[in-house]
Amino acid sequence: MSKKVLIVSTSIRKGSNSEIMAREVERGVLEAGNEVEFVSLAGREIGFCRGCLACQKTGSCVIRDGMGALIGKVREADAIVFATPIYYYEMSGQMKVFLDRCNPLYISDYKFRSVCLITASAEEGDDVAERAARGLQGWIECFPKASFGGLLSSGGVTGPNEAADREELMAAAREFGRQV
Ligand SMILES: Cc1cc2nc3c(=O)[nH]c(=O)nc-3n(C[C@H](O)[C@H](O)[C@H](O)COP(=O)(O)O)c2cc1C
Repeated sequence: MSKKVLIVSTSIRKGSNSEIMAREVERGVLEAGNEVEFVSLAGREIGFCRGCLACQKTGSCVIRDGMGALIGKVREADAIVFATPIYYYEMSGQMKVFLDRCNPLYISDYKFRSVCLITASAEEGDDVAERAARGLQGWIECFPKASFGGLLSSGGVTGPNEAADREELMAAAREFGRQV
């Protein structure tokens, strides 16, 4: 049966390497016969979680902003793929804010069973992306029906659009998408 895959691209820069990788993953998802929705956080107003925990009583957030259009997509997806630049050896701040703002889902039912991560960084080395993956895994542990679905990382990409020239990376991204 076809899966609904949500891709959340969290870099807000033009020519984002992680987004280029995510677009190739999207192609792979479609090739595998699955449905995909691609969401970029660029241009969206998403405020910090205020920690009021009202959502744990009401199931919805008190903040009325860009997250309102996205939280339902997270709840209804069968698989979620996050794409992030590495900032100071971690996921981007905007991705972390997004995860925090998914707090209403903590008390709700949710469909996602697999959560994957794409990272782009200047530095090479497995450890760079693994720290961000560990951060995401902490979030996943709070949704016990879901598990970590895999990591696609690229070091050696600093300036915008550099990922596009890496043929092997693009092929790996497509294959990653087929396996989501
Ligand atoms: C604030 C900031 C912090 C960064 N920290 C790191 C880092 O810790 N390690 C690293 O390898 N690259 C770091 N970079 C470089 C980015 O990860 C790299 O440019 C990446 O390609 C950006 O992905 P994007 O094009 O999808 O935004 C940093 C960039 C910025 C702007």
